Amino acid sequence: MMLEVATAAQLRQALDEWRSRGERIALVPTMGNLHEGHLQLVDCARERADRVVVSLFVNPTQFGPGEDLDNYPRTLDDDRAALAARGADLLFVPDEAVIYPHGREACVVSVPDLSDMLCGAARPGHFDGVATVVSKLLNLVAPDVAVFGEKDFQQLMIIRRMVADLFMPVTIEGVPTCREVDGLAMSSRNRYLSEDERRRAPALYQALQRVAGALEKGRTDYDALVESARKFLSEKGFEPDYVEIRRSDDLAMPTPSDQALVVLAAARLGKARLIDNLRVSLETA
Ligand code: PAJ
Repeated sequence: MMLEVATAAQLRQALDEWRSRGERIALVPTMGNLHEGHLQLVDCARERADRVVVSLFVNPTQFGPGEDLDNYPRTLDDDRAALAARGADLLFVPDEAVIYPHGREACVVSVPDLSDMLCGAARPGHFDGVATVVSKLLNLVAPDVAVFGEKDFQQLMIIRRMVADLFMPVTIEGVPTCREVDGLAMSSRNRYLSEDERRRAPALYQALQRVAGALEKGRTDYDALVESARKFLSEKGFEPDYVEIRRSDDLAMPTPSDQALVVLAAARLGKARLIDNLRVSLETA
């Protein structure tokens, strides 16, 4: 039986009971409209803890003006059923007053080093909103482990840095990106694609695979690789925002001696802004 609570007091009551029995708690933060990718985070959480808490909160502070906050798909009934079937123990569905009791700007957590590049350049303030809400959720739930998807690679890096730098007593787990059979990374935003756009959408992953393949062959002319990926995306009808090759441990620009890399891309296709990434390990065994 999955519990569902909306306030901090109800949440604390459930958690206190579990903690008093010495049970380990995992948190999976989400904004709902759950797909298989989210549910794999729940699977990971179940492997690492006795109790799985899923939060569902469409966080207003991570949406910029003109972004899709008002239209963000809200499918609570389906989400609840999917989570219960997957074995989540508690669904936390706070409203805004619970998460922002003193207003949206009362307290902001920022990880400036990692937040202004890549997606942060196109979405100013986005990652401050993410870091702030994730801090609040971690403080409310105080989990032993919190689980995030590698799909949002920069977000995961920012959360890892925040937790390390603020000495937050939680282990962060990253889960590989869950894809459709044609390679498209699952995302709530895929529903904004028309039928024709949906057919072309896997080109984003293909662009990453082409760059990754070239890196594996030893190419280090990053600018040329990125440029040809952008061209490929444009030919497929995307408007590329960025394609970048970075070091996977700190998102810094790589040097030719770096071996742990990640290729990241964001591109607009019709109304949807899609993001994806692919890690590349050049280490020789
Ligand atoms: P949301 O987009 O709902 O994603 C919730 C979690 O699911 C994130 O950790 C995200 O990386 C992961 N996820 C999404 N698509 C995935 C996929 N295809 N494969 C694997 N994991 C996937 O990310 C957020 O919400 C918010 O920013 C949040 C962290 C909840 C803060 O508001």
